[in-house]
Amino acid sequence: MPERPYFIEQLITAKEIAARIETLAKEIETEFYNSEKLVVVGLLRGSFIFISDLVRELDLCTEVDFIETSSYGNNTTSSREVRILKDLRGEIEGRDVLVVEDIVDTGYTLSHVIKLLESRRPRKMRTIALLDKPSRRAVKINSDWIGFEIPDNFVVGYGIDFAQENRNLPYIGKIRFADNGENN
Ligand code: PRP
Repeated sequence: MPERPYFIEQLITAKEIAARIETLAKEIETEFYNSEKLVVVGLLRGSFIFISDLVRELDLCTEVDFIETSSYGNNTTSSREVRILKDLRGEIEGRDVLVVEDIVDTGYTLSHVIKLLESRRPRKMRTIALLDKPSRRAVKINSDWIGFEIPDNFVVGYGIDFAQENRNLPYIGKIRFADNGENN
């Protein structure tokens, strides 16, 4: 596929993200105030920057673990199959868990991960997503905490990629293709 030239328009600044994380971290601390240890689970790869900023704001005893998924479209059922590429290193049975997502789009990824982790019987599990695109939802799932609700824009930065690029941007940007001025 030929590469379409694009530029990136800043949508959410690094400062806005940091301020929102500070607020969310306080709410998470309240929710898990009586936790012995909170297992913070990042969904690779998109959440790697968000989880690293979030855990540093949490004044709680934490453990960090990661899970990596990959999703494939299924043409016959127009659904998506989510596969686990890398599972957690630790056990979560009877433990408090916070699942950290970068973005909830159709919801297939988060829904699959939640079901899988629930089957391991954690004591309490909550989810947080930096971005939420409710207009794209295909399965009934909502994250317990959301950083920002956004319209159906093609976003990059702060961990989120476009063809594996732009994850390192310190802000959330919107892709605008130069050939039509639109975002998709
Ligand atoms: C992206 C994103 C979320 C998921 C959201 O991951 O990081 O995990 O898609 O989409 P959904 O709600 O429609 O399931 P991707 O599979 O692109 O992998 P990445 O995190 O490695 O970029």
